[in-house]
Amino acid sequence: MTDRHDRRVEFRGVRHHFTVGGAAVPALDRIDLTIEPGEFVTLAGPSGCGKTTLLRLLAGFMTASEGTVAVGGDAVRGPGEERGVVFQQPTLYPWLSVRRNVELGPKLRGVSAHDRAETASRYLEMVGLADFEKHRPYELSGGMQQRCQIARVLANEPDIVLMDEPFGALDALTRERLQSELLEIWRATGRTILFITHSVDEAVFLGSRVLVMSPRPGRIVLDRPAVFSDGGVRVPADEIRALPEYVALCDEVRGAIHAPTAVA
Ligand SMILES: Nc1ncnc2c1ncn2[C@@H]1O[C@H](COP(=O)(O)OP(=O)(O)O)[C@@H](O)[C@H]1O
Ligand SMILES: [Mg+2]
Repeated sequence: MTDRHDRRVEFRGVRHHFTVGGAAVPALDRIDLTIEPGEFVTLAGPSGCGKTTLLRLLAGFMTASEGTVAVGGDAVRGPGEERGVVFQQPTLYPWLSVRRNVELGPKLRGVSAHDRAETASRYLEMVGLADFEKHRPYELSGGMQQRCQIARVLANEPDIVLMDEPFGALDALTRERLQSELLEIWRATGRTILFITHSVDEAVFLGSRVLVMSPRPGRIVLDRPAVFSDGGVRVPADEIRALPEYVALCDEVRGAIHAPTAVA
């Protein structure tokens, strides 16, 4: 297995089209993107611009029509355990307890009972579900199910975590709490994160780097460092959001999303 420090993500000349009723529908156009290990990249853009398509190409759920997607220098040919995917809706096994859901991935990979119990405890603690480990998913709120899904994905210890609007269906309070938890997890584990969101504030608040895509066929039209979340200094979220630099970047991102004919 490649060393974690070599897990660079590279999109080179990637285009993708879907074929609908015999006609080609372009979804992604000329994506050239490098993500360094440990970056927290947020990706925003209008609905239907190709964000999920980009994530699915990196997840290995499908192959680009043109160009290459590589991780650690190796072309992506399918899903792999170094890449974990958190979907918008929690995907949990309803007949398994919270703990068993989190332990399942390590179990399937042959991790010993002792080690997977320890891993599960660590991540359940991290997402604040330690007291609910015996519950079944249907006994949890939506936010708790989503936290369980995040623990389940992290328990596989993927170097790269792909998250497709994971907090989109949550109420504002739960969402803000999970944002803080995710930042703490990122700081604690140093994983690479690619996080898709509809929310400009969420993109700027969470990302160490913010990307914006143009309307379909998607291209990256804005690529900015966002230093608000990764200084390691604990500043209250309200104070961060009031910083002039924070407000200015939100305005820039919003402008790029709504630009009529965005061209890089
Ligand atoms: N399986 C598919 N078959 C045909 N068209 C698709 C398929 N998946 C996505 N598309 C189209 O590709 C474009 C990009 O979709 P998607 O990546 O889901 O956008 P986003 O996640 O930014 O909303 C959209 O126009 C969508 O309708
Ligand atoms: Mg999508």
